[in-house]
Amino acid sequence: MKRTPLVAGNWKMNGGQSLVASMATALAEYQGVADVVVCPPFPYLASAREQLPAAIGLGAQNVSDQAEGAFTGEVAASMLAEAGCGYVIIGHSERRALYAESDAQIADKFAQVQAAGLIPVLCVGETLAEREAGNTDAVVCGQLQAVVDAVGVAAFARAVVAYEPVWAIGTGKTASPEQAQAVHARLRQSLAENDPDIAQSLRLLYGGSVKADNAALLFAQSDIDGGLIGGASLTADSFIAICQAAE
Ligand code: PGA
Repeated sequence: MKRTPLVAGNWKMNGGQSLVASMATALAEYQGVADVVVCPPFPYLASAREQLPAAIGLGAQNVSDQAEGAFTGEVAASMLAEAGCGYVIIGHSERRALYAESDAQIADKFAQVQAAGLIPVLCVGETLAEREAGNTDAVVCGQLQAVVDAVGVAAFARAVVAYEPVWAIGTGKTASPEQAQAVHARLRQSLAENDPDIAQSLRLLYGGSVKADNAALLFAQSDIDGGLIGGASLTADSFIAICQAAE
């Protein structure tokens, strides 16, 4: 089964209108085979959608676990759809660690995103302590299965999963292609125990210090279908070089 690679740029709380403009200009020239998604902060979504080429996807970095109502400061999935988003990152390790998001809340967000017709990009990943204790597979498969149990495996026909080892995010320490492949294979196998066809078609991205010079080897692994890129998505040159590494 051939899966179309996907490369998503997670700007986190960085960037602004000038980055929206420079990224849109640079991506107008992009012609690779990978699907490309840009995820700027909320205030820039609408103008990013106006400026980005239609073939480039737009994603948000977070969403409410509720549909609408008295939730001051929250943003509903339906609003992200109206702003032109096609994707929403959920369960990023920064949200899990800094904002105490639980598996249950992440599953609710996953359901809200799909109810609005958008594609969730569900992040899973282990900390260094969990890896050193030999718990990587149990942690990442547990984070995945918590959502499968809540929303049903069929929902993963319209979802993306990103494996992001916490110790590799923003640290310059990338998982080796072999380390990443091993976890991706384990995640795919774990989903296959729920539904083999959905597991085969699911796009599994790697994230954690992906750069232009290490992307090609990571993306060449059989179960790695692209990347979720933080720091290196903040300049058009490095982001496009990474998108091109997914050929
Ligand atoms: P990084 O971040 O590429 O800066 O390590 C990846 C992420 O957190 O999505």
